[in-house]
Amino acid sequence: MKFEDRLFQEAELSWDLAKLYLQLTHVKQLTTSRTAKLTATEKAILRGFLCNCSPKEIANQLHWKLNSLRVELTRGLYRYIETLTTHELNTIKNWRDIAQWLEEEGYKTSQPKQDLLQAPSLSSFYGREKELEILEKKIIQDQYNLITLLGMGGIGKTTLAVKFAQQNQHKFKYIIWRNLHHTPLLKDLLRDLLRFFNHYHLPTTINEQISLLIECLHTERCLLIFDGLEKLLGINNLAGSYQKEHSNYSQLIKRIGEEFHQSCLLLTSQDEPIDMLFIRGNKVDSLQIGSLGDAAQEILKEISFPRSHSWQTMSEHYGGNPLALKLVASTIKEFFGGNMVQFLGANQEFDIIVPTYFQQLLKEQFERLSALERNIICTLAVNRQPMSLKQLQEHSKLQISLTKLLPPLKSLKKRSLIEVIDEESTITLKLQPLIMKYLLTEQKDLVNVAIQ
Ligand SMILES: Nc1ncnc2c1ncn2[C@@H]1O[C@H](COP(=O)(O)OP(=O)(O)OP(=O)(O)O)[C@@H](O)[C@H]1O
Ligand SMILES: [Mg+2]
Repeated sequence: MKFEDRLFQEAELSWDLAKLYLQLTHVKQLTTSRTAKLTATEKAILRGFLCNCSPKEIANQLHWKLNSLRVELTRGLYRYIETLTTHELNTIKNWRDIAQWLEEEGYKTSQPKQDLLQAPSLSSFYGREKELEILEKKIIQDQYNLITLLGMGGIGKTTLAVKFAQQNQHKFKYIIWRNLHHTPLLKDLLRDLLRFFNHYHLPTTINEQISLLIECLHTERCLLIFDGLEKLLGINNLAGSYQKEHSNYSQLIKRIGEEFHQSCLLLTSQDEPIDMLFIRGNKVDSLQIGSLGDAAQEILKEISFPRSHSWQTMSEHYGGNPLALKLVASTIKEFFGGNMVQFLGANQEFDIIVPTYFQQLLKEQFERLSALERNIICTLAVNRQPMSLKQLQEHSKLQISLTKLLPPLKSLKKRSLIEVIDEESTITLKLQPLIMKYLLTEQKDLVNVAIQ
């Protein structure tokens, strides 16, 4: 996809672009040459006008000088649009005429209901019945205002959010999905969201813009989904606090959670944002997304592995993480001829591979941990066996009180890096084999420091 193709995609929601491109191409061919086509840039400029952007805003997005854009418009697009809408040539005096004329000619479709352009499409979906039930109860029945889906990378938070949105689309007037992976500044995200609600002239302060957004969320029942919030969170910090330039997201999330309206913000994140601890609203919750359970085996089936008793072991080794299973399964096919027993190394517990994607993902997550959190998981990795609270507390390098130990443990659990097992009233802490393997191989130096 060209860079220009990504610009002003939201025009698609309210305009019949396919028809417009076709007919404008026809006009262009009549006025220039028979083989001429509408270029990606011309299409982007057209979409920009349809999104109510001025030539200056369009030039900025295209990284063009305003004058170059003006020349391009006078030579081409303005003239094609005048011809298409049966206006005299050189009569476009104001860029706003374009959307108005095209609307009068019937190119505008109905008011947008959904903006899921940034959401991934689902090829398959297994399990998660319980999680979908909880989401439906909280969001649809009890009208929660803010829900965070938490869990390790690849566990299926985004997939679950897409499924929920698809299954419940008729219960909301508007559904808007926004990816946070490219770390948009809050002012840009707010401008973009408010445009969706047809607000083009915005109040000056962020606080007033948030008030306007909440007014929209109050007037209509909407589902807002922000995917990948962890990208806005800080490195080496108190768990879940924002990077400096994104700290004002806290205001938005807090106000959506606490103020009165009839909509819901569904967040997905690998780490819990710190706001969740301080929001006073009673319609706010976090949902931990864990192993896919038995349904994880469907992933192996999909990759057409012969069913065997190793499926269960394999799924456990990778913590029921669908992405890890997909990646590892393709490696087994490629290098072990699909023989899972051979791959699992005849039950050697640590003989598992950490897919490259997870090395990067765990590295990023590891960098977001506090020093104490790092120390705890390194200690658990070296010990290899689950440890009780007392054993951990008394470990020579840690030697800290229970009061100090509990907050980082809670944070690690929320980040899905440790499991807390409660058996016969004894609490033990366990690392997933995948994470243990990562620490023992990729973070050797830190692990050694932790045990010395
Ligand atoms: N319930 C499911 N059924 C089938 N496949 C699934 C399911 N959940 C996740 N997957 C697959 O696993 C992969 C990872 O899922 P997804 O992107 O939703 O994870 P994530 O938790 O959002 O990860 P990240 O934190 O890195 O964004 C995708 O390829 C997805 O198709
Ligand atoms: Mg995701």
